[in-house]
Amino acid sequence: MREETAAPLRRTAQCGALTRRDTGREVVLAGWVHRRRDHGNLIFIDLRDRSGLCQVVLRPEESAEAHAAARDVRSEYVLAVAGVVVPRDEANVNPGIPTGEIEVVARRLEVLNRSEVPPFPLDEQEAAASEDLRLKYRFLDLRRRPLLKALTLRHAIALETRKYLDEQGYLELETPMLTRSTPEGARDYVVPSRVHPGSIYALPQSPQLFKQLFMIAGYEKYFQIARCFRDEDLRADRQPEFTQIDIEASFVEPEDIYALVEGLMRRIFQAAGHAFPDGIPRMSYRDAIDRFGTDAPDVRFGLEIRDLTPLAAGSGFPVFEKAVEAGGVVRGIAAPGCARYSRRELDELTEHARRFGASGLVVFKRQDGAVHSPAIKHLGEARAAALMDRLEAAEGSLALVVAGPKESAAKSLGALRLEMARREGLRREGVWALLWVHAFPMFELRPEDRSVTPCHHPFTSPVPEDLPLLETDPLAVRARAYDLVLNGWELGGGSIRIHQESIQKRIFSVLKLTPEQAEEKFGFFLQALRFGAPPHGGIALGLDRTVALLTHSPSLRDVIAFPKTTSATCLMTGSPSAFEPEQLEELHLSLRRPVQPK
Ligand code: AMO
Repeated sequence: MREETAAPLRRTAQCGALTRRDTGREVVLAGWVHRRRDHGNLIFIDLRDRSGLCQVVLRPEESAEAHAAARDVRSEYVLAVAGVVVPRDEANVNPGIPTGEIEVVARRLEVLNRSEVPPFPLDEQEAAASEDLRLKYRFLDLRRRPLLKALTLRHAIALETRKYLDEQGYLELETPMLTRSTPEGARDYVVPSRVHPGSIYALPQSPQLFKQLFMIAGYEKYFQIARCFRDEDLRADRQPEFTQIDIEASFVEPEDIYALVEGLMRRIFQAAGHAFPDGIPRMSYRDAIDRFGTDAPDVRFGLEIRDLTPLAAGSGFPVFEKAVEAGGVVRGIAAPGCARYSRRELDELTEHARRFGASGLVVFKRQDGAVHSPAIKHLGEARAAALMDRLEAAEGSLALVVAGPKESAAKSLGALRLEMARREGLRREGVWALLWVHAFPMFELRPEDRSVTPCHHPFTSPVPEDLPLLETDPLAVRARAYDLVLNGWELGGGSIRIHQESIQKRIFSVLKLTPEQAEEKFGFFLQALRFGAPPHGGIALGLDRTVALLTHSPSLRDVIAFPKTTSATCLMTGSPSAFEPEQLEELHLSLRRPVQPK
């Protein structure tokens, strides 16, 4: 190609796709300057596009103009380069990248655009800047490979989900974003109406009621890759807007949903290049809480919680006896090989247990054939040894014991179990422990005010035999609900639904909604239940959580293109932001404390 032809260069190949087999091929590449090394007469540019990197070589004897132009380019400039693919000298072969055996000798170079110096380096695998800075320049951070990889996998998983559910006869159907409140246990994000002064739309916490309406409408099998919005305390595994693979079907039992989701997970694992575990075991909610202290247990490792209450009653140790007398429990875990823990480490564990609601931690060590513990003087050696046997704490083990109310014992021991696994490296990457948790209670007590609240949501069907207990002992009613758990994260939740209006009304009444309030909030839905609602059920799987787990990402922010911070802000766009007074006026809103636009 000669300079005087000077027509704009048009891309003919992708940087990351060239191999030794392309030797001799004339190509035009286009992309970003990943790195540039200037050895005077010899300039190397690693050119990057979405497919990967390719080394471009510029020598004045090939093209004086291209070589001169390359002197001025800097990181992240956008270039088009025409040249020929040649094998690298043996000494320069880079086995670390797919295109490491070749390079492109440039004959022409066009600068398509310049770039300011990026605020942080983009050519490092590991993030080299604070997350806040990377979120502010998210469009640059997205250029880094780990994010590109995660978002590419996200695409593959969404595509595989669509293919699989289509094969199973499911229709992808959309539901509104501007709607009424859907109770999923969080606060709503809201959108004031301009047309209806004082009226407000809620953004959906999930498409729950709409997917049930599709069943009532006779669509039988629905799915949607649905955006949901929840105003709640954020954590690494929560975002204020997130995506669900939302599924609903008519005439199904939990077994049908388990089979459908197992098939889907198998395909998702395949898309991510991971071996699928051998089936998905099941565990009751009670077992999960008693043995693991949580309804989303990480079963990649043991360290199971054991009950010591019968041994602790009348043991002579006031801490244990008081807890038992108050109706509480004494429970513990044993960590093999951890009797070596230092005073400082034990203090840290005690602090950890306290953070999760324990009033303290009683520590035992089984070492040199004896049990050592500050509690020995109360318990005596024989009883202490019996406690250790019950915990299966062998020689060299550390035992951590909590006495107190059942819930705080479960919570703190569950947290200690995870902490010990972290310290001992038991949460191994690449091991996949999927689990169905089922037999949930229908209701639980809200910690703030001890009021009865649904464990899942108020549209979940109670187990039919428990219906007589609804009004007399609601906390004893079991739900036809199930959760899918992966490596200790709740990946999905669902249930068989109520399809009779009378039962739905009874649930609202247990939740202390008056018939008028139920009618006001859910009248449209109660009405629909009166028109031949079929039995139905479903599930929603968190897409963000799925991608995060399968890419070993510690936070959902690593798998969402434009995520929010833990205080629900977008550092790039500056949202949420103040509104102009005219906009507020139009929306019939006035602020109690006016905010100045930033
Ligand atoms: P649930 O509230 O259990 O059920 O949500 C289902 C799944 O959605 C994901 N998820 C989240 N992911 C990221 N950030 C959040 N803030 C967040 N909240 C939930 C989780 C969770 O398991 N309508 C019901 C489903 C049904 O009954 O079919 C529902 O939304 O992975």
